[in-house]
Amino acid sequence: MKFFVDTADVAAIRELAATGLVDGVTTNPSLIAKSGRPFVEVVREIAEFVPGPISAEVTATEAPQMIEEGLLLADIAPNIAIKVPLTFEGLKACAAFAERDLMVNVTLCFSANQALLAAKAGAAFISPFIGRLDDIGEDGMALIEDIRIIYDNYGFDTEILAASIRSADHVKHAALAGADVATVPPQVLHELVKHPLTDKGLDAFLKDWETTGQSILKKG
Ligand code: E4P
Repeated sequence: MKFFVDTADVAAIRELAATGLVDGVTTNPSLIAKSGRPFVEVVREIAEFVPGPISAEVTATEAPQMIEEGLLLADIAPNIAIKVPLTFEGLKACAAFAERDLMVNVTLCFSANQALLAAKAGAAFISPFIGRLDDIGEDGMALIEDIRIIYDNYGFDTEILAASIRSADHVKHAALAGADVATVPPQVLHELVKHPLTDKGLDAFLKDWETTGQSILKKG
């Protein structure tokens, strides 16, 4: 499973990238607003050190303007994935970008039928929003499972990018359901590392090591 970081916080991405775990980044207009920085500047900066796909979202709502915006975004770096919303206009823009061999992430997907349309329009990624479905009492993970079956039935190579992930459990279940990618907020990625038995075991090892009086770095 690939991991994308779901943030526009460049310092947080840099820290995580040092672990070799970051395969890409997703941003959205809300995350850009939260960063308080100019959109293009942030995306360009991320593209300088993350070689994988970086999603940058259009804000127009009509296909011709979406296409205009998307082409500008794609010019920032070769690894930009143009993010378009799952609307009729978004699908038209998706098809136009796919025709130009540009990578598209179709976002705000809440149903299997929407995912089917995005794949047919040539999306490189489909972003089903797990957490937001859970928020309204639906089963976000069931959507990932349904999309997996549909894409496999027809051999679509659109990658399932599990989005709106809120917990470590979401990551595990998305992986079990066969999502290709999970886009994960930095704090959840940090959570994935943790286990109380790891901390307990390390404490015991270090205490025992101290009793030996040895040092790996000091000779003698
Ligand atoms: C995905 O690309 C979106 O940026 C993101 O996952 C939305 O998550 P949220 O529902 O926590 O805002």
